[in-house]
Amino acid sequence: MNITVIGRGNIGGGLADLWEHAGHHVTRLGRDGGDIGAAEAVLLAVPGTAVEAALSSVTGLEGEAVLDATNLYGGSQPPAGFASNAEYVKSVTGGPTAKAFSTNFAALFGQIAGARVRPSNLWAGDDQAEGLVTRLSLDAGYEAVRLGDLSMAATQENLAGVLFSIAQSGLGQFAYRMATPEDL
Ligand SMILES: NC(=O)c1ccc[n+]([C@@H]2O[C@H](COP(=O)([O-])OP(=O)(O)OC[C@H]3O[C@@H](n4cnc5c(N)ncnc54)[C@H](OP(=O)(O)O)[C@@H]3O)[C@@H](O)[C@H]2O)c1
Repeated sequence: MNITVIGRGNIGGGLADLWEHAGHHVTRLGRDGGDIGAAEAVLLAVPGTAVEAALSSVTGLEGEAVLDATNLYGGSQPPAGFASNAEYVKSVTGGPTAKAFSTNFAALFGQIAGARVRPSNLWAGDDQAEGLVTRLSLDAGYEAVRLGDLSMAATQENLAGVLFSIAQSGLGQFAYRMATPEDL
């Protein structure tokens, strides 16, 4: 699959490495922007307050499927008129959109492939994005768990504070797994 990542830092660069290892072709864009090209999937992994700037610096977004990994914390807000960054992204592209990969620590990406069981990867978004999120989660070593539709993206975006609080309360950076009773 052809994937373009917007943001090539911890999350964008880390997932690009994992997806390339899984056989995908990944193009990495930074703050200078560029063209989305022939991407079948786009990952947005810039600071949560830089989403408008980031999208305005790239071309070819119309109709693209976007997985938005951004978080908002410390009182930061999504673009005016939108409940979440992900819903803003959808308004720009018009394509299938998901908030995904926002609740896992990039620093642990290198250890996920060796996990005893696949950790979970929460996502919230459009039905049309489900196959993509499922596949790209698996190809990064995770199992996708749906939180809801795109109206739940704001809830997921604000989970960053919860994750940081858990990490700082003694556990350190962590992975998590949501399991059915049969899977315990
Ligand atoms: N780090 C984590 O563990 C983690 C986990 C879950 C979610 N997240 C979320 O993922 C997002 C990225 O985090 P990160 O840790 O990967 O950040 P990072 O390492 O600082 O990388 C940020 C990337 O965004 C680009 N960027 C910055 N400002 C931009 C702008 N105005 N326009 C376009 N691109 C811009 C940078 O471009 P250059 O390459 O040109 O500098 C860089 O490639 C954040 O929203 C964060 O909350 C992070």
